[in-house]
Amino acid sequence: MSLFEQACEVRLNAHAPYSGFKVGAALRVSSGKTFVGCNVENAAYPEGTCAEAGAIAAMVAAGELEIEEICIVAGGTEPISPCGGCRQKISEFSQADTPVVLANPNGDMVRKTAGELLPDSFKSSHLEK
Ligand code: THU
Repeated sequence: MSLFEQACEVRLNAHAPYSGFKVGAALRVSSGKTFVGCNVENAAYPEGTCAEAGAIAAMVAAGELEIEEICIVAGGTEPISPCGGCRQKISEFSQADTPVVLANPNGDMVRKTAGELLPDSFKSSHLEK
């Protein structure tokens, strides 16, 4: 299954009773393994988590740290534009040229890179003292 197909599939499991906005994310690492996530909302609204965060958490839990490509799917007439927090999370595990595919369930897609979505990101090198 393609990353787009996996993101569409996991999106159906999104827990989004408050916003009604379901999001799915699927990413692949260099070994070829793939990881998926969906948004998980909570009655205490700020406790909700984004689809990208779920996929990244699954990747890290499996001992992987390098995103080779990620695809994010949400409803709407246009492909989703990922939130700022997720751009930062993707950046932590990507290179500037890592492909980030943004799509809607119709298959309309925009191909970006992690660097285009978050230029001049805050990164670990900034933590050097
Ligand atoms: N959401 C994501 O899962 N990813 C994004 O990049 C943008 C927003 C979720 C969070 C919330 O559950 C819903 O979409 C509406 O904001």
